Amino acid sequence: MKIIRVPDYEAMSKQAADVLIKRIKELPAPVIGLATGSTPKGMYEQLISAHQNEGLSFRHVTTFNLDEYIGLPPSDPNSYHSFMQETFFRHIDIPLENIHIPNGEAALLENECTRYEALIDKKEIDVQVLGIGENGHIGFNEPGTSFDQITHVTTLTHSTRQANARFFQSAEAVPKQAITMGIASIMKSRKILLLASGLRKAEAVARLFSGNISEDFPASVLHHHPCVTIIADNEALSLSNMKGRTI
Ligand code: PGA
Repeated sequence: MKIIRVPDYEAMSKQAADVLIKRIKELPAPVIGLATGSTPKGMYEQLISAHQNEGLSFRHVTTFNLDEYIGLPPSDPNSYHSFMQETFFRHIDIPLENIHIPNGEAALLENECTRYEALIDKKEIDVQVLGIGENGHIGFNEPGTSFDQITHVTTLTHSTRQANARFFQSAEAVPKQAITMGIASIMKSRKILLLASGLRKAEAVARLFSGNISEDFPASVLHHHPCVTIIADNEALSLSNMKGRTI
């Protein structure tokens, strides 16, 4: 694991965008795995700025999002379809058909999971961007999820619903289930870029660096991946006692 320590959220966002911009320029058909939440928002702003001010094109880019709530229509402002559209896609020139997000309204959710995993296998994600939950989740793979899981329907934990309640009218309004890429799906990516910012993430980051690998702490699986870069700011690293280095 390569760990890059940055001063703050803005620096994290810039570094993360730079990693993606490099791949987007290098590869003829880059496939990028994307995340939602507060963490990657600044990275999306940087990518939009590169598109608008430096002519970076996304015409040849394919994206896969990690997850989507079950039961929210894409038009719901809290759906991840809506989040991605508003935060990123509508500001860039990516073709609609290159965007992939699980369909949380599918009549047959199991079939949707199978379809999504097959697409990931076909396209092969080059760089997967991840946030980290306060409970160590990656995507919506909650503690206790098997490391062998591929894309599946998951029940969100109380702590995840509480953490995401800030976007909804109440904690009760947060959907109880989601479709998420599984841990095994994420681990198929060639490279993984995990971002962490703020004191809220300090405990999870310290636990990740402790090196204990357990399904009780999903992010710990990343120790098994050959190419992980973690970009974390001073606050997120405040309980970890480490400078930028490799572990
Ligand atoms: P956040 O969520 O970026 O909103 O903190 C990250 C996550 O829960 O994976």
